[in-house]
Amino acid sequence: MKKIAIAGTGYVGLVTGVSLAEIGHDVICVDKDKRKIESLRSGKTPIYEPGLEEMMRKNMQKGKLFFTTSSFVGFKDADMIIIAVGTPKDENGTLDLQYIEQAAKEIGRNITKNNAMIVTKSTVPVGANRKIKEWIQTELKGNIKFFIAANPEFLRQGSALYDTFHGDRIIIGAESEEALDSLEALYQPFGIPIMKTDLKSAELIKTASNAFLALKISYANTIAGICEQIGANIEDVSLGIGMDSRIGTSFLKAGIGFGGSCLPKDTAALAGLANEVGEPAQLIHDILEVNKRQELSLLKKAIHRFKSLKGKNVAMLGLSFKPETDDVRDAASLTLARQLVMEGAKVTAYDPAAVENAKKVLGDLIYYADSIEQALKNADLAFIVTEWEEIRNIRLNLFYEWMREPIIFDGRNCFQLDKVKKCPLEYHSIGRPIVI
Ligand code: UGA
Repeated sequence: MKKIAIAGTGYVGLVTGVSLAEIGHDVICVDKDKRKIESLRSGKTPIYEPGLEEMMRKNMQKGKLFFTTSSFVGFKDADMIIIAVGTPKDENGTLDLQYIEQAAKEIGRNITKNNAMIVTKSTVPVGANRKIKEWIQTELKGNIKFFIAANPEFLRQGSALYDTFHGDRIIIGAESEEALDSLEALYQPFGIPIMKTDLKSAELIKTASNAFLALKISYANTIAGICEQIGANIEDVSLGIGMDSRIGTSFLKAGIGFGGSCLPKDTAALAGLANEVGEPAQLIHDILEVNKRQELSLLKKAIHRFKSLKGKNVAMLGLSFKPETDDVRDAASLTLARQLVMEGAKVTAYDPAAVENAKKVLGDLIYYADSIEQALKNADLAFIVTEWEEIRNIRLNLFYEWMREPIIFDGRNCFQLDKVKKCPLEYHSIGRPIVI
């Protein structure tokens, strides 16, 4: 078993650390944030991810998983160091590598083992691993040999542990056969197909995969718009398209647009890369354009329906960018909430997990409810933004009982039209006929 250090205990770092401990490695997670490390040491995960906390505690008790704020303690005799620090977008939309640079330099200063593997899991632009190598090299003390590798992750928030143990593929890119073989051996116990390639290809696979998922969603949303114009039903159309195994049914669900920290960021990064290298890539820019329009498509329908939203009580169900996460980064809810307030509406939002994070961004621009009922009480209209199970399972009659006017704009097509038709509701959804 190897001694593995993980730089960064964010979403990717923590899930990776816990999973590698689970298959028997000795893992130490390093993070500068003292409070986070204290909380992790007390057995609490700072992110909401089903099953993660239990697995983390189990491995801490077994003595397989440790947390530290000290790069020296973490990196000094590690066989492998996985870089999983954040790469946020800067104001121009490009990925900010400052945390990667800091981590790489800390690694350079502290590694002592010859032939240590430095593996990048953070989402990085193509070419970043070369820079990482240079940053490490500038800080090295003595003549220590190390390998670098790219190992992008394909976890989805909300099913990250499941994806780690049941993913479709593991991609590893490196310059040397030795590095590729060593990473292959590390991942073999997961029983997932492993693809070995060069550094740049591995980096590009990650960004291009996320942009392709975004492309599928924007395509479905474009077709949904056509459905609305001709009176077709996008749910059936998507299913019919996806039944062709060459296309596949996943990621063809039309909705209020894709959000999160990955699809928007990686699509923008790919568009940026194409520009940089002088490759025409209108198609990739269009993915983001369609998404921007889509986030406001329901609002447009509501304005068309009411003429003005000034003074209206609006209930918003769901704030996170998708269910089973408290993450609101690039969530459609943020754009919609801001725009609704600009239109003069009073917005009351409910989310089972994301209220605290939404408050950090939206502050007191909107009101926050503790329950679906509280959000819907006396509302003139309701938007459904995230398809949490609790929201999908609302008894339809309750909209009628609780709202002043039961007019719903469903951005996630949560309800079947034949069921809606049996209730006294006005129901607008995405790519499907209106029910009045
Ligand atoms: C995404 C990818 O799915 C993962 O493979 C990848 O590892 C991850 O990014 C990453 O780069 O770290 P994630 O951002 O967690 O995962 O969320 P997704 O499940 O991909 O959903 C993204 C957005 O697309 C959500 O807002 C969701 O509501 C939306 N979506 C998804 C649709 O509107 N329609 C669909 O059919 C599927």
